[in-house]
Amino acid sequence: EGDDELQARPPVVTVMGHVDHGKTRLLDAIRNSDVVAGEHGGITQHIGAYQITHEHEGVERDITFIDTPGHEAFTAMRARGAKVTDIAILVVAADDGVMPQTVEALNHAQAANVPIVVAVNKIDKEGANPDKIRGQLTEYGLVPEEYGGDTMFVDVSARQNLHIDDLLEAVLLTADAALDLRANPDKDARGIAIEANLDRGRGSVATVLVQSGTLNIGDTIVAGTAHGRVRAMFDEDGATLTEAGPSRPVQVLGLSSVPRAGDTFFVTSDERTARQIAEKREAADRNAALAKRRKRISLEDFD
Ligand code: GTP
Ligand code: NA
Ligand code: MG
Repeated sequence: EGDDELQARPPVVTVMGHVDHGKTRLLDAIRNSDVVAGEHGGITQHIGAYQITHEHEGVERDITFIDTPGHEAFTAMRARGAKVTDIAILVVAADDGVMPQTVEALNHAQAANVPIVVAVNKIDKEGANPDKIRGQLTEYGLVPEEYGGDTMFVDVSARQNLHIDDLLEAVLLTADAALDLRANPDKDARGIAIEANLDRGRGSVATVLVQSGTLNIGDTIVAGTAHGRVRAMFDEDGATLTEAGPSRPVQVLGLSSVPRAGDTFFVTSDERTARQIAEKREAADRNAALAKRRKRISLEDFD
């Protein structure tokens, strides 16, 4: 595709960090800080991803957050060769410091070449020592800007809603400085399944992230071994969408089954083609499982 067809798209952000350092609470705080979402006044329903709007230098900017455990997002999705996140927020509790999963998370992000913004969380707590966190992370190559490095650190309290806007600023500044985030919205959608489940009344409910193109109601898609016509789409507030462009996470109804997190999806010309591709993939999965079992049995023969 020509460069002129590419348009700016919002950054896609995941939140990573050690157990109990405040990832979920931070995602909640970020979502609540979104005035636009609040105005829908709707019931906040769980969705694996959401988008917020943040005013940056007088311009309304969207940011997409993927609300799955960062490690799963990285390991499951990267195992399938999918790149889902543009920026990682590394959450470190200021009273606890760098822990094994902090290091694991930053290793994943660095290996994937994903820029990191550090959220030093729980600064409201007694014993919080944000400077110590800066010193510790410097040893892992995350040198704070104020120490002459190029990583932005923001002290926050997810519980008390402190400096959440500064964190969003840091995300946008990092995106603008380090990344060229563009996609062509004027073609068939492609993207990735974030999470999915079977709902008693609605059938397969899949949260997908559109990575390029635009997804429309009525499109036929294949997602992993699931297929079907998009019957309805909803945003994180339960509002109906008729289309979803690049970086937009959306709940999709109408699939034949439940895709796995990390499955890629794309639009096909018609339902028959979608079903054929899905069936081929299913057969391939079955054969792979069978081959694995045969191999195990033949290895056991040597025992
Ligand atoms: P896992 O998903 O289990 O890895 O944990 P998490 O990183 O999502 O942490 P979570 O958001 O569940 O927070 C863990 C605990 O820390 C909860 O009791 C939160 O209320 C608390 N907590 C989170 N952020 C803050 C904060 O800024 N200040 C204080 N004082 N407590 C916080
Ligand atoms: Na927790
Ligand atoms: Mg959590």
